[in-house]
Amino acid sequence: SFMFNKSIFIITIFISALVRAHVVATESQTVLTNLTSAQAVGGFIIAQDPVTQVAVVSLSPAQLNKLSAYGHSVGRCAGFEVLDQTERASAGIVLHQLRLNQIDQRILSPMMLLEKQIMFDADYKKIIDQADPNSLKYMITWLSSYPSRYNKSANPNIHVNDLKIKLNEWLKDAPWKYTIETIAHNSTKQNSLKLTITGSKRPNEIVVLGGHLDSINQGMFGFSLPGAKAPGADDNASGSSNLIEALKLLKQVPAFERTLEFYWYAGEESGLLGSAEIAKSSKSNNKNVIGVLQLDMTLFPGDGEQVVGLMTDFTSPWLRSVLTQINDIYVKARLVDSVCGYGCSDHASWNRQGYHAVIPFEATMNKMNQNIHTEKDVIDSKSSMNHSNTFTKYAVLFALVLGNSDIQAP
Ligand code: BES
Ligand code: ZN
Repeated sequence: SFMFNKSIFIITIFISALVRAHVVATESQTVLTNLTSAQAVGGFIIAQDPVTQVAVVSLSPAQLNKLSAYGHSVGRCAGFEVLDQTERASAGIVLHQLRLNQIDQRILSPMMLLEKQIMFDADYKKIIDQADPNSLKYMITWLSSYPSRYNKSANPNIHVNDLKIKLNEWLKDAPWKYTIETIAHNSTKQNSLKLTITGSKRPNEIVVLGGHLDSINQGMFGFSLPGAKAPGADDNASGSSNLIEALKLLKQVPAFERTLEFYWYAGEESGLLGSAEIAKSSKSNNKNVIGVLQLDMTLFPGDGEQVVGLMTDFTSPWLRSVLTQINDIYVKARLVDSVCGYGCSDHASWNRQGYHAVIPFEATMNKMNQNIHTEKDVIDSKSSMNHSNTFTKYAVLFALVLGNSDIQAP
């Protein structure tokens, strides 16, 4: 049956990982073991199943040795150690696995990707710990104080040009070289902004992070008045600011193996205009875009702080699994699957060109901010800088994990 095949598949991956853990224990390993042992040796718990007490855990070589000793001291085999007793090991794992299969998918995903697993990196953790809600608030305040960022307003590029100047100021002490360019479009007079950090090892492999910089006031009956105030604090000064804050934090990293492209898209609110042209030209130029992160609305904690919607339509299952692992290892918010039901933001432009895209969102769809597209989309008592700060961390980690490794869609 399907379940059985899947179990065998996972067990095979798992055992091969065990073999590797046994043979090359020179760096930290991710292993499956019981929760008590994992905690006893101080391992980093990536995922755990409260029912079976099974944990997916990252261990240093020293901790791996301790785990072995601990297993013996309590008269029980501890994960990787039971290899010589193949029968007992596989029987135990089958039992765990059958149970694990019935639990939260998030427990399975780290195992599914054992071949190219995401390992905990203490340096990455140090960087995201510095993500600053106050600095983020300053940035969202600044962007949402333009009367409008609408692509059909009289001067649709004032804030675009200002952001370009500001980015150059904020990044002048960066250790890496970068370029910033405005991108003109056929479908709108508004420009997108693109910042590129060329990869040091594999520059042709591209990691994209983006959000739309434009805003809209849809007015009554859906008439979008070019003169109307459109602060767009949540939609989408928030996501735009997360990207800026992420870049400032990434100044601590000397280089990236892959090329990073940051986009602040034009005219999203008028039909994904900027991103549609950008994704299309990437495709027609045969660009090897490994993955795309979209940030659009991160300020309103509609399901509570630390609850994040993960859109499952127009997105890549692989990249959702990567983001889920990133979340479970470093951020530890609660990810809840949700759907837009249509191409609700710029990730859909990339998805249409066949690229892997993902969009973590402020809440599940029906709990999202109801003030968007009006003059009431401002920072108010319901806004949460702490909540939005979580998305700065996703951006930083997306850039680090994908930008500094060779993981890619299977
Ligand atoms: N940020 C909004 C909507 C949204 C909702 C994005 C949920 C991501 C997740 C976005 O800017 C927007 O308003 N999109 C338009 C569609 C677009 C094609 C004009 C919309 O939802 O009407
Ligand atoms: Zn938006």
